Amino acid sequence: MDRLLIVGAGGHGCVVAETAIRSGLWSDVFHLDDLLERPHLDVGTRVLGSISDLAALVTANDQFVIGVGDNALRLRLFEDLKNHVKAASVISSESLVSKTVSVGDGCVIMPGAVVNVGAGLGQACVLNTSCIIEHGVKLDSAVHVGPGAILGGDVQVGTRSFIGIGAKVLPGISLGADVILGAGAVAVSDLHEPGTYIGVPAKRLMPH
Ligand SMILES: CC(C)(COP(=O)(O)OP(=O)(O)OC[C@H]1O[C@@H](n2cnc3c(N)ncnc32)[C@H](O)[C@@H]1OP(=O)(O)O)[C@@H](O)C(=O)NCCC(=O)NCCS
Repeated sequence: MDRLLIVGAGGHGCVVAETAIRSGLWSDVFHLDDLLERPHLDVGTRVLGSISDLAALVTANDQFVIGVGDNALRLRLFEDLKNHVKAASVISSESLVSKTVSVGDGCVIMPGAVVNVGAGLGQACVLNTSCIIEHGVKLDSAVHVGPGAILGGDVQVGTRSFIGIGAKVLPGISLGADVILGAGAVAVSDLHEPGTYIGVPAKRLMPH
């Protein structure tokens, strides 16, 4: 079995680590982190070094995933590393992913997530705990769907967009790139402009 290298040892990186360990697909799971000497949470993993140590640490059989919640940073790190190490996706054995779903490299699907027929995930997406991705949903690269969020059938979400905890997107709606849908918000119409949207129905939060 291969080793899994998780870039990031913060809270999100530790949840990715535990999800990977529980899947039983890797012989060893460890972190690289530029700031932390040990993981933020104890899931039985350790930090081997910083990202700049990658070349010295990595072996031909290693795989990597980015354990960073921030979408822009995750995508940047993914693009940087994918030419040096084989990218993996971490899919919880306690998630329910239809066999018809296409999952891009570098994705993380957390426990309790449900991904229904014909959905498609771009690279480096995060489907967080117990979110629901309905049939035919298309996510561009580095989308993060927060815990308990629900995307109705055929929803489309642009790159680096973030769906907050418990937010909902009604069927057929499109969200553009770099949209942040706040916790608990409900998108009832297309939201094309980059920015933060809150409330029911979701409206743009204007900077003060
Ligand atoms: C929407 C969000 C991104 C806004 O963050 P922000 O830009 O820092 O905004 P602020 O916290 O300064 O709040 C601005 C205003 O919006 C309100 N607000 C913030 N989030 C809100 C939400 N989800 N729903 C309704 N109102 C919200 C605040 O009360 C505040 O109102 P006021 O101006 O009347 O005082 C953030 O509050 C949020 O919901 N994040 C989601 C977090 C999440 O789901 N994380 C998942 C991690 S796995």
